[in-house]
Amino acid sequence: MRSAAHGSLVFETHATRAEAERSVAEEIAALVRAKPDAVLGLATGDTPTGVYRELVRLHRDSGLDFSSVRTFNLDEYCGLAADDPRSFTCWMQTQLFAHVNVDRANTHLPDGRVAEADVVRHAAAYERAIESAGGIDLQLLGIGRNGHIGFNEPGADLHTRTRRVELHAWTRADAAAAFGGLEHVPTRGITMGIGTILAARRVRMLAFGVRKAPLVARTLRAAPDPAWPASYVRLHADARLVVDRDAAP
Ligand code: F6R
Repeated sequence: MRSAAHGSLVFETHATRAEAERSVAEEIAALVRAKPDAVLGLATGDTPTGVYRELVRLHRDSGLDFSSVRTFNLDEYCGLAADDPRSFTCWMQTQLFAHVNVDRANTHLPDGRVAEADVVRHAAAYERAIESAGGIDLQLLGIGRNGHIGFNEPGADLHTRTRRVELHAWTRADAAAAFGGLEHVPTRGITMGIGTILAARRVRMLAFGVRKAPLVARTLRAAPDPAWPASYVRLHADARLVVDRDAAP
């Protein structure tokens, strides 16, 4: 593992994706052992899958205890049924929640089915729930092809909080296969804001594979810039960008 500082952002390159995933899962496990009711900020997509697999393994083989852990996910699509397999809610069940002893009542995702008139109230309640849990201890992030984090698409302001957003064309295009065609991809989502993400005590942004290398390069290069939301992590005092060799620029 090689590590270098880019301002306050620590950039960590691992020889393999598996090694990087193990190191992030180990950090989460250490946090949960030290603070059994830790508050984890979770992401979906391809990037965190190996970290979740490793957490499941640590639960199974070493008894890592999630019974008091609280989780808040970054985002959810609008308009999908609760049990829609393409929802992030279902995805989290399949990838992590169903395989560890987390209390379902302690897992939170924005509700994409909330009525039009209740979106603002729901988003404010999501922020309050994070706050009353004591804030997020560690937030996982991936980087979208357009630099988005959560569903904070290019143009997202530094001070944004949980809110409903219009999804960027590339975000929808990248989801088209999973939805069986672009026309079936929701046009909106609900996401934590940049301000919500930066309020976490630690931020761990992950990127794996050659297709992420230019995104990583831009995240390291860009001064914090709304045109590349991932660059906002450079403003955080305890942020790490963890990559494998293929994603290193
Ligand atoms: C999903 C999320 C997104 C993804 C990003 C990268 O909860 O927050 O910002 O992290 O779109 O997606 P993958 O990991 O599939 O490349």
